[in-house]
Amino acid sequence: MSPPKTEFQVHAIQSLDATLTVPGDKSMSHRAAILGGLASGPSTIRNFLPSEDCVNTLNAMKALGANYDVLREMPDHGPVDLIIHGTSMRLSAPEQPIDCGNSGTGMRLLAGMLAGQPFTSRMFGDESLSSRPMGRITLPLGQMGAQIATLGEKPGCAPLEIQPAELKPICYEMPVASAQVKSAVLLAGMFTQGTTTVVQPAETRDHTERMLESFRVPTQREGNAISIIGGQIPQACDFTVPGDISSAAFWLVAAAALPGACLTIQNVGLNPTRTAIIDVLVRMGARITVKHAILDGEPMGDIHIEGAGLTGTTIQPAEVPNLIDEIPVIAVAAALATGRTAIRNAKELRVKETDRITTVVNNLRAMGGVVEEFEDGMEIEGGHALHGATLDSFGDHRIAMAFAIAGLFASGETRILNTACVNTSYPGFAHHLQAVLDGRTHADDFSLPTRPSA
Ligand code: S3P
Repeated sequence: MSPPKTEFQVHAIQSLDATLTVPGDKSMSHRAAILGGLASGPSTIRNFLPSEDCVNTLNAMKALGANYDVLREMPDHGPVDLIIHGTSMRLSAPEQPIDCGNSGTGMRLLAGMLAGQPFTSRMFGDESLSSRPMGRITLPLGQMGAQIATLGEKPGCAPLEIQPAELKPICYEMPVASAQVKSAVLLAGMFTQGTTTVVQPAETRDHTERMLESFRVPTQREGNAISIIGGQIPQACDFTVPGDISSAAFWLVAAAALPGACLTIQNVGLNPTRTAIIDVLVRMGARITVKHAILDGEPMGDIHIEGAGLTGTTIQPAEVPNLIDEIPVIAVAAALATGRTAIRNAKELRVKETDRITTVVNNLRAMGGVVEEFEDGMEIEGGHALHGATLDSFGDHRIAMAFAIAGLFASGETRILNTACVNTSYPGFAHHLQAVLDGRTHADDFSLPTRPSA
């Protein structure tokens, strides 16, 4: 495997013919660490995402009393298969502030879990995380009785200090369609007596609900309202995490936009709250077939894609939460398509790891793309040839990877600076990128090495 790189150098490719798997799903890995740590006894988690974000959550659970043993690891990254020893919902006070690194999901979900504990905890993150809004969770958790102070320089931002509190159940109507907020409230609800309900304004990813079910804590769903009864102890279970469709998305776009390309991504998560990227690429002209299976309560399977000339599309408002993390690379696909693509109703992009509307628009323009910026999104006029450029990721993993894909279609060399951030979600991306650049076609060229833990 290639050594970690802090810069990608990318040139145009003429062909792509590969079969690969991507590392485990990030959303599910966070939840497996948290629920495994709350469960009664040991749970075996396989294909955990050994990324910085998820390892931070795993180590947070360890600091709260849930130890883990590593069975298999990705060298230089982290655990892939592990046993986490659950605490039966009896967490212990952390000795030090918890480092959530770059991860909004980690911090918001952990805050929900910690809000109703009988001890004080503190959480902090990197510069990007310290500027992301935490009011969206401190508001509902405060209504439940939580005592959470946001201590950041920027109002309403991390670090967080969570004082001991006894929580009461609430019914909360979320103003934004956020799975992180939903999950924070449901996790807090586990530590109340009674029924906590969250109403989402639009469908969001349902991994928390599905994984709670795997751990034998059922949630009830009525329309867009999800309820949980507090006081139930999750039962330890074994869970295999499928590949992350948000990581697969980079290669799906690369193949979709390259006529003649042929790509299969195996064992990838196909939860319907995450697969709008497939619908969008099909609408744009890609030929996709999907082989479905179900594993541990989550749909998964293989995606086969053949490239064709793409045409622009309009992203529907209801699709936005389903493909929110894929929008940077969808914008790249749009630039490579003929016609116009509209991505609106996506203001949430402004509060991700970077302001992903501005970072995408500026980077696309630097490569010769024609794009109009709006407060809630962008409209891209496709079909203008892209040229190589030197671009910054601004420390945002999905910006780094999306523009590496753009570089595969640009004349001359594209340099993406500041790329260590890809390790927050896709350890091994540089290895896969190199194999694609080298025109490799053998499955072994795309395998990411793992080894049993010493
Ligand atoms: C996530 C939910 C989404 C997504 C993030 C992961 C999750 O955020 O952007 O990468 O695991 O719940 P929001 O819920 O804030 O939209």
